[in-house]
Amino acid sequence: MSVRRIPLLVAALATVLVPTHLVTGVSAASPQAAAAQAPARTPDVIFVPTPDEVVEAMLKVAKVGSYDVVYDLGCGDGRIVIAAAQKLGARGVGIDIDPERIQEATANAARAGVNDRVKFLQADLFTSDISEATVVTLYLLPSLNEKLMPKLMKELKPGTRVVSHAFGMPESWKPEQKLDVNGRTVYFWTIPR
Ligand SMILES: C[S@@+](CC[C@H](N)C(=O)[O-])C[C@H]1O[C@@H](n2cnc3c(N)ncnc32)[C@H](O)[C@@H]1O
Repeated sequence: MSVRRIPLLVAALATVLVPTHLVTGVSAASPQAAAAQAPARTPDVIFVPTPDEVVEAMLKVAKVGSYDVVYDLGCGDGRIVIAAAQKLGARGVGIDIDPERIQEATANAARAGVNDRVKFLQADLFTSDISEATVVTLYLLPSLNEKLMPKLMKELKPGTRVVSHAFGMPESWKPEQKLDVNGRTVYFWTIPR
């Protein structure tokens, strides 16, 4: 066979061996791509990012440092765990049910150069293993905090710090600190012994 025919042969083989969806490509606008992007179930709360100065205050009140593992339950674009890794040297895990948020958070972590210290998991926060956390951050809703409280008490080690933007816990678990950050409230608790 002449050398000039080899590229033609390679192209012909590729159409036989490579799965159709890789050859044709599934555009982001196609129904297949939309289905792949859809959350497994409707998120319990929509994505609204925590402002940077509030993120900073949340990490400060929890005294996050390089030995910490920060879990953000409903991590959105990943800003809390990325800030914890980038500014304080912590490790971080972000959990979000929405695959679009996980893609965004992963890209933001790469841009921030902290890929080796953070990971983002597409999962339901209510069924995820959070026992490794030394700090948990939340920006959910009062009803979700109430639903989450038994899981926090059961799975987190005594001494684990919990910080919530905007919303408290049920009356039975009073915050140790409550801060005002430019009109936003930050709550702080420690898992009791
Ligand atoms: C208000 S945003 C907070 C984002 C981020 N933590 C911050 O403070 O910037 C709440 C996030 O929770 C996610 N979420 C809602 N229900 C969830 C669930 N059951 N499991 C995991 N993530 C969930 C949403 O997709 C959204 O990104």
